[in-house]
Amino acid sequence: MSGYLERMKEKTRHLARRGRANVLALESSCDETAAAVVRGREVLSNVLTSQIDTHTRYGGVVPEIASRMHVDAMDPLIDQALEGAGITLADIDAVAVTCGPGLVGALLAAVSEGKALAYALDVPLVGVHHIQGHIAANLIAHPQLNPPFVCLVASGGHSHIVYLDENGQGRLIARTRDDAAGEALDKAARVLGLGYPGGPKLEIAARQGDPEAFHFPRAKVRGTDMDLSFSGLKTAMIQLTHNMNQRKQPLPVADLAASFQQAVMEMLVSHTMQAAQALGARQVALAGGVAANQLLRSLFERECAAQSRAFFVPPMALCTDNAAMIGCAGHQKLMAGQIEDLTLNASPSLALYPAV
Ligand code: KG4
Ligand code: ZN
Repeated sequence: MSGYLERMKEKTRHLARRGRANVLALESSCDETAAAVVRGREVLSNVLTSQIDTHTRYGGVVPEIASRMHVDAMDPLIDQALEGAGITLADIDAVAVTCGPGLVGALLAAVSEGKALAYALDVPLVGVHHIQGHIAANLIAHPQLNPPFVCLVASGGHSHIVYLDENGQGRLIARTRDDAAGEALDKAARVLGLGYPGGPKLEIAARQGDPEAFHFPRAKVRGTDMDLSFSGLKTAMIQLTHNMNQRKQPLPVADLAASFQQAVMEMLVSHTMQAAQALGARQVALAGGVAANQLLRSLFERECAAQSRAFFVPPMALCTDNAAMIGCAGHQKLMAGQIEDLTLNASPSLALYPAV
């Protein structure tokens, strides 16, 4: 391995001068194993396998099972991604992997594979923060979008409001103080007996319900206007359903789902719009698994139109975990010379940006 990093710095400078590279991207931070080939914002192939059916039996992701399934799925997916892109390993200029945050054993599948491939192919290795990947999904979907913009990243593990300045430099503006939005949706779906993953199931159930049937509290976090909190909302749902169950009352599932979903999405929208206003951002973007939610999209569309801000959201397939977004973020880092040595490790709680 001697001299690998020095050699790669030289290769990276060459690739940056060329301005385009074939990046093989790997993602395995949670319950999707994914591989993609990306050139800048152009996606040459994007494939994945989901473990959802397996984890559904247990009501959530089982880390040990996830790790093993990622390892088994990775090689065939890489072959598929290369075939889909119409290239071979010899055409790969760099490898990008999600190195955090996420489940450590799961992350290690992509990190180890990526390190082995980078070494064997003698190409640079890029470590990508999963959330920066989610944000980059917008760059793939909207070639005309460039910073500055405010982005809400709402997933099963995160609810962050970030600002990318005119240089593309990220800044954390607000975050959840407790549960992530997706986590709250998953929990609510579970107590309503809707199963895992909760967000999409809750959304379907909510279609038949009245969003004003129940009032769920919209939390205010002391000390900051913009930070989010979903634990009070989650507790309210648990208590409400517990009381109904004790009284042997049938759960009005659709109304509860609709009211809960409304509260979560309204909070996400109002805090993000507040950030956009405070920062004078003319563009607002949405990312992460929760961005697949139709109510969230339409609330954002309405608010952004009312405030004359442009609104961007990736198509569904790029909202949930995938490797194309990791490749796009990885390509940007590669062009900026931000590469890793082969000592790169999985970081379960990798920080996003410094808080201000
Ligand atoms: O980004 P993602 O695929 O994985 C993580 O990085 O966490 O996000 C998964 C989260 C889950 O909490 C899931 O319930 C939620 O996104 N989700 C949705 C929808 N689709 C996925 N939440 C609301 N509505 C949806 N349609
Ligand atoms: Zn994600």
